[in-house]
Amino acid sequence: MTDSAFDICLINARLATLDGDAGYGLIDDGAIACRYGMIVFAGPMSALPPHALDADQVLDCGGALVTPALIDCHTHLVFGGNRAGEFEQRLEGVSYEDIARAGGGIASSVRATRAASEDELLASALPRARALMRDGVATLEIKSGYGLEHDTELRMLRVARRLGQVLGITVKTTFLAAHALPPEYADRPDDYITFICNELLPDAAAQGLVDAVDAFCERIAFTPEQTARVFETARALGLPVKLHADQLSDSGGGALAALFDGLSADHVEHTSQASVEAMAQRGTVAVLLPGAFLCLRETKLPPIEAFRRHRVPMAVATDANPGTSPLLSLRLAMALACIQFRLTPEEALRGATCHAARALGLNDRGRLVAGQRADLALWQVHEPAELCYWLAGDLLKQLVIAGHPLG
Ligand code: NIG
Ligand code: FE
Repeated sequence: MTDSAFDICLINARLATLDGDAGYGLIDDGAIACRYGMIVFAGPMSALPPHALDADQVLDCGGALVTPALIDCHTHLVFGGNRAGEFEQRLEGVSYEDIARAGGGIASSVRATRAASEDELLASALPRARALMRDGVATLEIKSGYGLEHDTELRMLRVARRLGQVLGITVKTTFLAAHALPPEYADRPDDYITFICNELLPDAAAQGLVDAVDAFCERIAFTPEQTARVFETARALGLPVKLHADQLSDSGGGALAALFDGLSADHVEHTSQASVEAMAQRGTVAVLLPGAFLCLRETKLPPIEAFRRHRVPMAVATDANPGTSPLLSLRLAMALACIQFRLTPEEALRGATCHAARALGLNDRGRLVAGQRADLALWQVHEPAELCYWLAGDLLKQLVIAGHPLG
């Protein structure tokens, strides 16, 4: 590197800055100048700071649309095996809940994940993470929850950390041991919660493996009271919480997440008006997961209009997992959020950038403004709405991570 003031300068770009609360913040003939991996300037080329064009690298975007790199704020990307067989069963009419009650579902991924070594889990997750990156993702959340016992839960979280290191992306880890009841604790859910609170979570946290704590609050998983016990432990350890809330029924999950100042309540199809209000009050993000909605052939739509009215930020994520959402494109999740939930393409883009950042407790990314991380996506489209309009195809031209163009 020379001693020029800028590491990289992007020129001839069409910027969707997402600055402010509404609109794409479009700037034609735009430029971005970066130093030390951060955006120093994002605006019209005519206002570029002096010497920006002397940057170590000048990248001519040729008119390409540039957005913040995408952020997938809800995934279960690390797991053993897959559940294509259950997919076939569901096509024959067996429900997700029936499969779970018969010992399949999450439990079958638990068996396969427990049987897999750390290297095997890493090797199987890598191509899935790369697929997400090919569609613009530079920040990724990954949950545990297919171990449900000490060693495998920690192994999953270590794999998540390693994925971030190997790929050079940001990975935020979420502890989800309260995902399902392991066979060792059959009929003893409260004892399992005690084990999580007294041993598993404190140990995982002490090893620096936990950025946030999640639970599956649902009639086929854990009650609000059991969930609250996990959240109390998280609070005592100084860890933020998020929640699989109100996916299949209304258990007051949105309000419960809000009560603990949760970063997010996720799924939220059955979330009540009272929960929406509680989320609005505490700043809890609603994370929409249209992939699971599609694959489970759900019909109950999340209360989008109420979220809008109460200004609850809506994020969009893949929920990439082997059961309910084998979806490896955040851009496709954005498209599905528009088609199924009638989000506007602008809402979907904010949902996969600035609002997703907030759902992860990150305030250093998700918009193209000075002071934010230079995680950028360059697209071969002109209109931002095209990001949601095309259902597949390689629209990504270039991913830039902390000011470094990839590949
Ligand atoms: O987000 N809802 C619970 N957890 C996952 C499904 C996990 C699975 O079926 O393996 C979800 O949809
Ligand atoms: Fe999930």
